[in-house]
Amino acid sequence: MVLWTTATTAPAGGTGWQTRRVHRLYPLPPESVDAAHAAGPPRAPRADRPWVMLNMVASIDGAAAIDGVSGGLSSEPDKTMFGALRAQADTILVGARTANAERYRPARRSGARIAVVSGSLSVDPDLPLFSQPPDPPSAPLPLVVTTFGADCDAAERLADRAELVRVGTQSVDLPALLRHLGSLGARVVLCEGGPALNAGLLGADLVDEVNVTHAPLAVGTDAPRIASAPSSGSPAAAPRAFALEQVIAQRDVLFVRWVRSGH
Ligand SMILES: NC(=O)c1ccc[n+]([C@@H]2O[C@H](COP(=O)([O-])OP(=O)(O)OC[C@H]3O[C@@H](n4cnc5c(N)ncnc54)[C@H](OP(=O)(O)O)[C@@H]3O)[C@@H](O)[C@H]2O)c1
Repeated sequence: MVLWTTATTAPAGGTGWQTRRVHRLYPLPPESVDAAHAAGPPRAPRADRPWVMLNMVASIDGAAAIDGVSGGLSSEPDKTMFGALRAQADTILVGARTANAERYRPARRSGARIAVVSGSLSVDPDLPLFSQPPDPPSAPLPLVVTTFGADCDAAERLADRAELVRVGTQSVDLPALLRHLGSLGARVVLCEGGPALNAGLLGADLVDEVNVTHAPLAVGTDAPRIASAPSSGSPAAAPRAFALEQVIAQRDVLFVRWVRSGH
């Protein structure tokens, strides 16, 4: 079935697919829009905390990683929308395993601050995120969010590379973290995963918006879903209802945005 066709442009001397136009299939009627427009209007913070968005890419059979990283699921269209959504956020939240696996680096856009959640401070202090100079030099250091029980030596290894924030005792208290980010001036927090951090945020009903890129791939492994955490043995929280906000496409990559119902 053909839903649309589009012109693509390759830069001189290159073969990459460069258009920033995307096809909005929903809400109706379908139209061609710029990726920045498809990222949506500026989000407003909630009364007690910043607005929280998730952005994840998954295969059509639900895998959130191939061989331990998300790169095999990504594509030029995904990178385009990834950048357009990042431009909406003042704070980018990420779990320690994702920061390590994906070799996080400083956010290129001035004003966006990266915050890594790392209860046991397993985050690698030699990541480009911490070792590359901030750009611009006046940009604040990245945040590392940990607990009061975190190891002092590990904290020492991050000194001068990150601003350490302690929230919670056994684990990072996610509602308190978001309130803290709000007190620092955060209005829109974009969580880029991984699945364990997403599960914590969703389980605590702290997610206002979910953006999923469906990559046209079937992986067929037991890779994690976009939100997954080991069972705690406690009864599962009631499923949360989300409403369909937008469906867009670039080539055969599908992007779906869901917004928490009742917010
Ligand atoms: N498909 C996608 O869009 C996408 C996006 C992101 C990541 N990924 C993939 O997902 C995988 C990594 O995800 P993951 O689920 O294994 O890990 P993750 O969510 O990235 O990080 C988990 C770690 O974050 C810290 N953490 C999270 N919540 C915490 C809390 N409430 N309190 C204290 N610490 C907390 C802990 O760090 P400590 O261990 O230091 O305590 C925990 O081990 C990688 O393969 C990555 O490539 C895919």
